[in-house]
Amino acid sequence: MSKDYSIVSFSTSIDGKTRRLFIAQTPTDLRVIGSMVIEVDLTGETGYIYDLYVAPERRRDGVASFMIRTAISDLGNAEKTSAFTCNIKNKNSVSIALFEKLGFKRCMTYEDDSFYYTFRG
Ligand SMILES: CC(C)(COP(=O)(O)OP(=O)(O)OC[C@H]1O[C@@H](n2cnc3c(N)ncnc32)[C@H](O)[C@@H]1OP(=O)(O)O)[C@@H](O)C(=O)NCCC(=O)NCCS
Repeated sequence: MSKDYSIVSFSTSIDGKTRRLFIAQTPTDLRVIGSMVIEVDLTGETGYIYDLYVAPERRRDGVASFMIRTAISDLGNAEKTSAFTCNIKNKNSVSIALFEKLGFKRCMTYEDDSFYYTFRG
């Protein structure tokens, strides 16, 4: 079955760092059902994922997975970004399951009880 949503993205550059906003939207009425930001570091090699959110009524439908996979592919091609990182609160078992399913590896625990995850494309 084809997905009833698509991804658009917008970039800004501040002090040499690229920030790219990814938005998942429905094709007919362009309703926003998910969003996420990736900040690419000055070298262009590493993208930090934050502010990932999917509308509650659209969760568990692959929206976050599709946004993250699209972002990894787009930034890999456009910016040659090959590493992706994110911080996840250790209580956020849903997000931990999501990122681990996508192949992110936990590599550090911070004192504020969040985990640092990385992915190499
Ligand atoms: C975390 C969040 C972005 C996931 O979005 P989503 O579109 O529902 O995720 P997906 O449908 O792509 O799920 C992919 C995988 O993640 C895991 N997952 C997602 N929701 C889950 C749930 N409620 N319980 C257990 N595992 C879950 C599963 O492994 C799932 O694969 P499966 O459906 O084949 O079993 C969404 O729940 C959300 O916006 N939460 C509030 C904000 C938040 O926590 N943001 C992340 C901060 S790091």
